[in-house]
Amino acid sequence: MSDKTAIVTGAARGIGAATAKRLAEDGFTVAVIDLDEQQCAETVSAIQAGGGKALAIGADVSDSEQVTAAVDRVAAELGAPLALVNNAGVLRDNMLFKMSDSDWDTVMQVHLRGAFLMSRAVQQHMVEAKWGRIVNLSSTSALGNRGQANYSTAKAGLQGLTKTLAIELGKFGVTANAIAPGFIATDMTKATAERVGMSFEDFSKAAVSQIPVGRPGAPEDIANTASFFCDERSGFVNGQVIYVAGGPKA
Ligand SMILES: NC(=O)c1ccc[n+]([C@@H]2O[C@H](COP(=O)([O-])OP(=O)(O)OC[C@H]3O[C@@H](n4cnc5c(N)ncnc54)[C@H](O)[C@@H]3O)[C@@H](O)[C@H]2O)c1
Repeated sequence: MSDKTAIVTGAARGIGAATAKRLAEDGFTVAVIDLDEQQCAETVSAIQAGGGKALAIGADVSDSEQVTAAVDRVAAELGAPLALVNNAGVLRDNMLFKMSDSDWDTVMQVHLRGAFLMSRAVQQHMVEAKWGRIVNLSSTSALGNRGQANYSTAKAGLQGLTKTLAIELGKFGVTANAIAPGFIATDMTKATAERVGMSFEDFSKAAVSQIPVGRPGAPEDIANTASFFCDERSGFVNGQVIYVAGGPKA
């Protein structure tokens, strides 16, 4: 992959940071995108310390102009982006009767509009190169989860987007697949523990009790799956959703 550039969104921390590092180990030059360029410094330094090439870019994936500018900058400074991991995400959990318009809209904007805008902006480079890999971060919440009407809708929507991109772009050598993680220990799940008034340790213990492999997921578990989808040898795997949850059920 030494001649290829990848973009990972929401890559300042958590699953995105682990994925950016893993793709750099695989030989990709990586554009590390998050809301603010400063936030990306740690991920970029870790990649550079390992001998890889990376660039930090601040952009809100739900903002069309910022997305266009970010993708143009990647193409100009690193080369045409040929892999894209749509990972940026937010939670605005609430029971339906308490969920505000903005709780709903924010989650749709970041997950769905963000993945749409990013995919639309990079596809021209992939189609031109007749090679591309798009990976969308779904979730086991796509199957339904209490307190997550907005998030589960967005994560199910991302599965529909994935399958449609797979159909539209397949003939250009571009694949689109989705990863649906279960419980992964990151700032996102730490924030959820805080919101429900539990220590992260207790929250994690409760989650692990339902996970057949008997441990929480790590960001690297998801990064490894993204690495598989982005690999040259995965070109016949298209439009799939892989649940990475330590077991068959959410
Ligand atoms: N942690 C889990 O258990 C879990 C489970 C299933 C799915 N996921 C999904 O995996 C992805 C990563 O999750 P995480 O746990 O690493 O979360 P996280 O909160 O640790 O990191 C998310 C990153 O996305 C960035 N981001 C948010 N809004 C953005 C925007 N508009 N533009 C650019 N960047 C933005 C944040 O700044 C942050 O760095 C998310 O899509 C999440 O929904 C996580």
